[in-house]
Amino acid sequence: MQLDLNGMTPKQFLEQYWQKKPLVIRQGFKHFEDLLSPEEMAGLACEDVVESRRVFKQDGDWQAEFGPFESYEELGETDWTLIVQALNNWVPEAEDLIKCFDFIPRWRLDDVMVSYATPGGGVGPHIDLYDVFICQGSGRRRWRVGDLGPHKEFAAHPALLHTEAFDPIIDVELLPGDILYLPPGYPHDGVTLEPSMSFSVGYRTASAKDMVSAMADHIIDKDLCNEQIADPDRALSNNSGIINNSDLARIKQQLFDTLDDKLVSEFSGRYLTQSKCELDLPEESLGFQSTDIAAQIKQQPLIKLGGLRTLYFETSATDGVVYINGEQFTLSADAKTNREAFIALLCDTQELTAEALSPYLNDQHLIEQLTQWVNAGYWYYEDIE
Ligand code: SIN
Ligand code: CO
Repeated sequence: MQLDLNGMTPKQFLEQYWQKKPLVIRQGFKHFEDLLSPEEMAGLACEDVVESRRVFKQDGDWQAEFGPFESYEELGETDWTLIVQALNNWVPEAEDLIKCFDFIPRWRLDDVMVSYATPGGGVGPHIDLYDVFICQGSGRRRWRVGDLGPHKEFAAHPALLHTEAFDPIIDVELLPGDILYLPPGYPHDGVTLEPSMSFSVGYRTASAKDMVSAMADHIIDKDLCNEQIADPDRALSNNSGIINNSDLARIKQQLFDTLDDKLVSEFSGRYLTQSKCELDLPEESLGFQSTDIAAQIKQQPLIKLGGLRTLYFETSATDGVVYINGEQFTLSADAKTNREAFIALLCDTQELTAEALSPYLNDQHLIEQLTQWVNAGYWYYEDIE
């Protein structure tokens, strides 16, 4: 699968469109093939662990229901949509699609969402808080996109936040392989013209409120930031009720001082690698020995579990620090090889081949750690007898 950004380089796209304005990319993918069939999608949507919903209109009123779903017969042949979130957690082929957008780092990625819609189906006009590349699979869909502005939002149903009618700045019919890029805040409405599949590669953002709240949990959990405000330089005050500007500055300084690279990276590394949706993990340790890893890798690559989030920071990878699935790991300082290069290999690539792993195969510390991750299901061999 290869992405063509209307002849633009990824750098040009980032400079001109990313987070700035919508773009229709005609034939972004030549010969695009659906990542799964509608039947396979219906199969996923009947599992409890898979997040799914369907949206339709009943007697003129919008309805939304959450899965798992057993049957669709009651919905008829038109005017409904089925959506499955985090397709990349369940369908390895979704990784091929994400890879095309790797000019945006993975910490910004949310998930791949798939939508199947019957003629007339759509989720209604709305505004998202994310950037998204809506990749049209089979079928045709008409998309209308409005400009940024003070659009009123309202709940068309408790689970559907809609926006009022808008004047389109884009009104297009997407064909298989076409892509619509939308930055946050642009109202949009997609209505399918014939049974249609679309695959949305979505990018998350976190509000300062979410970050501060999660950071407070981290501070409490790890019992950090216990330093008290100190004021040995206190000047005489004539107003007993006042918090003067120098005291306000002191209070702010105490808060700023907590926000050093160590705290922010140790908290956000964990936070940003947490998976929103369930991962397809084994229930118990798989029982690999480190010698098995070295032997198997000659036969086949180790594949990173779909949806697993693995990240590192420029500042701490040299110290062997890596974040995986909400946890911080520090690779042993006794490792003989370059821990930073090993971490980059783990996090920047989705597959560990024998060739890429070869410098590390004799480094017992690193291979033992990798074995633990394989036993946890974070990386796997496709064919295991
Ligand atoms: C859909 O694919 O049905 C909805 C996507 C969106 O507008 O966010
Ligand atoms: Co949307």
